[in-house]
Amino acid sequence: MAEHEGAFEENIHNREYRKKYTVKKIDGSFTLYDNNRKSEKLDGIWHHHADVYDTCLRQEWFKEPRKDQEGWTLPWDWDFNEWETIKVPSTWNTQQEQYKLYEGSMIYTRTFRYEKDDEEKVVLKVGAAYHNSMVFLNGEYLGYHEGGDTPYYLDVTESLQEDNRIIISVNNTRTPGRIPTIFTDWYNYGGLYRSVELFRLPAAYIREFRIALVPGSGFSKIRAEVEVEGKGMETASLSIPELGIEKTISLSGGKGSVVLESRPELWSPENPRLYDVHVTAGEDYIRERTGFREFKVEGTSVFLNGEALKLKGVSCHEESVPNGKSVTNEEIRENLALIKELNGNFIRLAHYPHTERAARIADEMGVLIWEEIPVYWAIHFESQETIDNGRQQLSELIKRDYNRPSVIIWSVGNENPDTDDRLAFMGGLADLARELDDTRAVSAACLWDQKKMKIDDRLAAKLDIVGINEYFGWYNPHFDLLEKFFDNSHPDKPVIITECGAGAKAGHHGGRNEMFTEEYQERTYEEQVRCISKQPWIAGLTPWILYDFRTPVRCNKFQKGYNLKGLLSADKSHRKLAFFVLKDFFARWTI
Ligand code: GCU
Repeated sequence: MAEHEGAFEENIHNREYRKKYTVKKIDGSFTLYDNNRKSEKLDGIWHHHADVYDTCLRQEWFKEPRKDQEGWTLPWDWDFNEWETIKVPSTWNTQQEQYKLYEGSMIYTRTFRYEKDDEEKVVLKVGAAYHNSMVFLNGEYLGYHEGGDTPYYLDVTESLQEDNRIIISVNNTRTPGRIPTIFTDWYNYGGLYRSVELFRLPAAYIREFRIALVPGSGFSKIRAEVEVEGKGMETASLSIPELGIEKTISLSGGKGSVVLESRPELWSPENPRLYDVHVTAGEDYIRERTGFREFKVEGTSVFLNGEALKLKGVSCHEESVPNGKSVTNEEIRENLALIKELNGNFIRLAHYPHTERAARIADEMGVLIWEEIPVYWAIHFESQETIDNGRQQLSELIKRDYNRPSVIIWSVGNENPDTDDRLAFMGGLADLARELDDTRAVSAACLWDQKKMKIDDRLAAKLDIVGINEYFGWYNPHFDLLEKFFDNSHPDKPVIITECGAGAKAGHHGGRNEMFTEEYQERTYEEQVRCISKQPWIAGLTPWILYDFRTPVRCNKFQKGYNLKGLLSADKSHRKLAFFVLKDFFARWTI
């Protein structure tokens, strides 16, 4: 039957209204090397509105008050400058009580002036918007990004005016095909929670710069790779003054690389030696501050700069009580200082990419890092859209943090079922990580085989290091089974116990068999480290978790919306008894 053309109103009848705003997919292929670049931040006070029905998209509010063909001003349902205000960056959940558990679209908008100077290009960077977002500038739809933990970039040169209005519709609704999917044991924050900024660039500029020690070169070769955007750049110049390096890199097709003989002082947790690296190409200049180190796997051990070591750390969510996911540098420093206090050298940034500031601060403080994309639990491994998004998020993370010496492991997921679809999905991600980066190990936090009582996950064959989450003493009551599980397992590659532990309410004391007391958690840690210390193939440990964190999953009288497996209370003011068990263990755990 023919559709009734006349009786059809786009903004109320088009069920696919979101689709047209997801067509310009920002997939990580366009990026800008932005470390240490001067930028104009659009952070600060924005107007915002909880757009529960996505009316902005349906009625195209971003086109401002509309007129029809006869110039008749159509009635409007918004006044951007009269709306509530919100701080950017922040998570809306922590800004206003009524948005604590809000899931849906939030419209962010502000105006800003732009006066052209001698730049030829302007790039907008959104540090992170949880979980997907659509960008509109001066009434024009610019693009759509999906993935709440990685930055994205847009060339806005042609869209900028002197007076500008930017609108970003951010949506954190949990959907089955999303990464992460609808069920997670952490809080579903939302918002523009990392900085939004503009970069002014010459017509031809440096869009990628990567530098690292060449693996297997005996710490004697440095490889630098440059990619430029724009015409007319035949060469780039690289300078590392403290190494006496001044090198011209020839470019062809906008790309160039060089391998230099050099023996830099190596970066390590004990000696986090950083160097300033300067790159000039055409009128563009960037400065990277990085360290040189080699991380590798051999047999069932891991090596840093040729020396075997144990990775002594703790898992950690990106969250603080006052700021949610929008953590401050001070809060990051505090977390890394706690790792040092525990006699640790390592931290597992679970379960998604934390802010790039975390790895930069770890570079300075000397803490090794496991970074992870949120391929968590029951992902829709069979969906091509989900597969594509997983590859996009991993590529965005590796591009962002490639030059960070503290980062040694890329993790492609956590606690996923051992199915064929999952093996294809995560095996493909492991291959992609290796394609993009030969200087780091690839891992994932896997489950152990409860029937066979051993490590037997098919994904392990695709990994350099196998992460294992096991909760003997909590979800599995018997520690003698932990010994049996360990004795039954004969891995041919290093294993990191990426999770173990127990819940305890800070300050709640009682018997060592009384769940949720500090004494129970203490005993669990004592038993865990006793068993772990006997297995030479366990190359690392990151118990769950550094401090208590928010989750809608945990609702008993002790938890009240928090997962209490932290070694510290959520505000990090209270060290539980288990903290000292781990500290003592890390002081004596050696190869
Ligand atoms: C799982 C999962 C964590 C979760 C933890 C728990 O292993 O990886 O995200 O919080 O167990 O049960 O507390």
